[in-house]
Amino acid sequence: MLTDAQLKQFHEEGYLFLPDTFRPEEVAILREAAEDIYTEERPEVWRERSGAPRTAFAAHLYNESFGLLGRHPRMIHPVEQLFGEQVYMHQYKVNAKASFTGDVWQWHQDYGTWARDDGMPEPRAMNIAVFLDEVMPINGPLMLVPRSHTSGVLAAEHDTTTTSYPLWTLDEDTVTKLVNEGGIVAPTGKPGGLLLFHGNLVHGSAGNITPYPRKIVYLTLNAVSNYIRTPTRAEWIAHTDFSPIIPTDDDALLRYGTKFKQAAE
Ligand code: SIN
Ligand code: MN
Repeated sequence: MLTDAQLKQFHEEGYLFLPDTFRPEEVAILREAAEDIYTEERPEVWRERSGAPRTAFAAHLYNESFGLLGRHPRMIHPVEQLFGEQVYMHQYKVNAKASFTGDVWQWHQDYGTWARDDGMPEPRAMNIAVFLDEVMPINGPLMLVPRSHTSGVLAAEHDTTTTSYPLWTLDEDTVTKLVNEGGIVAPTGKPGGLLLFHGNLVHGSAGNITPYPRKIVYLTLNAVSNYIRTPTRAEWIAHTDFSPIIPTDDDALLRYGTKFKQAAE
């Protein structure tokens, strides 16, 4: 359960960072799973122009470890607590930000996309992320503009040229004004850290020219009553299975990892 101080931080700043939420053994299972899926040639695995993986969508549907993370109580319960109702999976991505080639994510708000492209009624969906590698100031950490979630949906341009992935991006004047008010934070830390941020929080990340990869898994959990009304994107980008997620036991990922390892021995 999130404490009162954590809830206050989330409501005021628009994000919450909880270091060391997943144990090294749990993260090792997920990191291996990420390396596996990035080798697959399938439409859900999106690549940078260099050919390096950028993001793997819907990994919970074709990889058992990511399936378990998608139902993990440490992911589901905080979001249920914040929304006061059950949640379903709106989107699932495993972002690579590969060493040397990981490309930029321009400044944007996610709810802008969910509203415009998916017909999501309210910003009652949440990104909840787990660091699979160490996130450092130098390897393209996710940057957040604190308190920008209070601005509602900002005007945005549909950028289909800068990177391989189309995004509704914000202009420089808008970002400058919000940053003058709230600054920029880039939560960093060891694998296993958990970051939760509001759908309207402005965020982005720079490229990664270091030898250190920066993999982060993002679940977007939507309140069941806030299901999307007018989907336009592929099902594997914006899901239309609105069934509430039933969380697993807390040790489900570890038990699965152990079973898997024994079977391979
Ligand atoms: C995102 O905004 O969806 C991803 C950004 C990142 O992984 O750096
Ligand atoms: Mn985003």
